[in-house]
Amino acid sequence: MNPVVLKSVKQAVFDAYGTLFDVHSAASRHQARLGEKAPEVSALWRTKQLEYTWLRSLMQRYVDFWQVTQDALDYALDSHQIEDSSLRKDLLNAYHELACYPEVPESLRELKQRGIGTAILSNGSPEMLEAGVGNSHLQGNLDAIISVDVIGIFKPSPQVYQLATNHLACNPEEILFFSSNAWDVSGAATYGFQAVWVNRFAQAPERLPGTPVLEIKTLDAVLEYLPF
Ligand code: LAC
Repeated sequence: MNPVVLKSVKQAVFDAYGTLFDVHSAASRHQARLGEKAPEVSALWRTKQLEYTWLRSLMQRYVDFWQVTQDALDYALDSHQIEDSSLRKDLLNAYHELACYPEVPESLRELKQRGIGTAILSNGSPEMLEAGVGNSHLQGNLDAIISVDVIGIFKPSPQVYQLATNHLACNPEEILFFSSNAWDVSGAATYGFQAVWVNRFAQAPERLPGTPVLEIKTLDAVLEYLPF
């Protein structure tokens, strides 16, 4: 394999859910009440959440990610015949306090120390993102939080990646974009970012256009490819 050479990087931009934040930590927190169905409910919640973003974008029927997250949870609970309004409320509250992956704070700090800007680009609504960032004490290590909410369309619309380029006032290829979601990597690479696939769960590659410049397992692994 050829050695990986990244073009000059000005900004490191991160997907939020699944990349910085562990989306399954909400269901894990209420594992005892969900019982053995917990992993399945959590997986269906996430799958439906993403499907609804894609479908609503195609239908041009945007509602914010918080509404989508509630609708997806309702579908998942309904599918598993769980009727428990207090559990529903607690799962949604937990989504505002998702755990970040352990290497995230130090990786952001190190990128900033190397003179690279740091930002989130996410489907998440501004309030959800503020809550997640605050809960993990990441605010000091992030220069910007960019939500799709200002344009009313979800990833992987090219308009979303354009939004980050405009906000950060740089060229697309100066952005190193990180996502654990391979379809998001595909959208970002197709748009023109240098896209890094944080393949946390050893998933098979998507059969979609756009190739990552790098595939890593955890965020800190990118540091060896960047100059001091
Ligand atoms: C996000 C979803 C796609 O944070 O994970 O944008």
